Amino acid sequence: MTDSLASERNSVIIDLAAFPEDFLWGTATSAYQIEGAVAEDGRSPSIWDTFSHTPGKIDNNDHGDVACDHYHRWHEDIALMRQLGTNAYRLSVAWPRVVPGGNGPVNAKGLDFYDKLIDALLAAGITPSVTLYHWDLPQVLQDRGGWPVRDTAHHFASYAAVVAERLGDRVHHWTTLNEPLCSAWIGHLEGKMAPGLTDLTAAVRASYHLLLGHGLAAQAIHAAFPSAQVGIVNNLSTIHAATSRPEDLDAARRMDGHTNRWWLDPIHGRGFPSDMREAYGVELPEKSGDLATIAAPLDWLGLNYYMPITVANDPTGPAPRTREVPRPGVPRTGMDWEVDASGIETLLLRLTREYGARALYVTENGSAYPDVERPDGTIDDPERQGYLINHLAACASAARNGAPLAGYFAWSLLDNFEWAYGYDKRFGLVHVDYKTQKRTIKGTGHRYADIIRAHAERARNAA
Ligand code: IFM
Repeated sequence: MTDSLASERNSVIIDLAAFPEDFLWGTATSAYQIEGAVAEDGRSPSIWDTFSHTPGKIDNNDHGDVACDHYHRWHEDIALMRQLGTNAYRLSVAWPRVVPGGNGPVNAKGLDFYDKLIDALLAAGITPSVTLYHWDLPQVLQDRGGWPVRDTAHHFASYAAVVAERLGDRVHHWTTLNEPLCSAWIGHLEGKMAPGLTDLTAAVRASYHLLLGHGLAAQAIHAAFPSAQVGIVNNLSTIHAATSRPEDLDAARRMDGHTNRWWLDPIHGRGFPSDMREAYGVELPEKSGDLATIAAPLDWLGLNYYMPITVANDPTGPAPRTREVPRPGVPRTGMDWEVDASGIETLLLRLTREYGARALYVTENGSAYPDVERPDGTIDDPERQGYLINHLAACASAARNGAPLAGYFAWSLLDNFEWAYGYDKRFGLVHVDYKTQKRTIKGTGHRYADIIRAHAERARNAA
């Protein structure tokens, strides 16, 4: 093997030598999307149980009651990770399994599940990376106001401390929040995710308390284990203006504020961007000391990258008064998202140069396309393969140009419950037949395994 790996499909070269020898090659999932077993062992309902069981909210009225049945099949899923050759796995803990009342008593059985899972991952030589909040707020807390209410941030920190105290002797890599943008903007402003509100004031307050909860949780984890590596995961996008007209350029600035700066500036001690505070026109529920808490020291930053966004001005639309405009000729995934691998490099370099990131992980990246099942039972997914290779090549280029990239987690290990899209959209490296729960590694999974092997071989040769 050489220092680089060419794809015979599109002859893109991944400069594997740009990745450090101890690079984390992972896959990612989240609790509600794969676990199922929603009423087992003391788990209480989350806002996603409520939302997905509300008729009309999810395509085909799908829900996560069974999902990939990972709660019962996790042994098999770890075996799949070994087959892929990954050395890391990003999972999320379900808050309603561990603290079913939102705050207060701990459910031993809920914690035991993750305890066993972590032990088994470590025994398989796979480093666990644990996310504390991937959108499954206990419904009881939503009933008390949810993220727009300050107490929720404190309850989140208490729950984080419970999990860290139990698992922190073995888990060193922690994420407080996954994609708070989705919780705040899609869940409270656009109404397309739980809890399904369309209320700008609630959304802005939720965004504030999510970030406050992040800071409090980061402090709690570091208090329990000072050497813990704590980060936050944001889904960022490169933003393009639909035209060079001043109003569209200004729309692109607002979209950048809404998507990127609102989430990055406060955690870097820069406060909430003033142009966006003005654009939203909502008073923040600020208390003295909050900004310092939100900017609690972080050990790394996580980037979830899927697509760029192109916008035009839309004075009549909801905040941030922009309208998405498809760029002609740009390919799109099965999610109807633009494909542009250069965006991942741009963002990794932006986090490095503009925000001074000292360690970066791509915590999610992947694509949904319809899979083609061949008569022999194998799954051919050339478009997903192309997406993976192009994005890995762009990551390598970012690393070459100075981004301190320490790992890449493919979204997702398994096809799973894709939120409002239900089960029709498949992001997995492994195909799941939901009728039988049979797992089949797709072409992209095999390709990922080749890349991981080639990187390891290169390191061995260099030694
Ligand atoms: O499935 C989601 C995941 O839960 C969060 N990031 C984006 C993925 C694809 O939409």
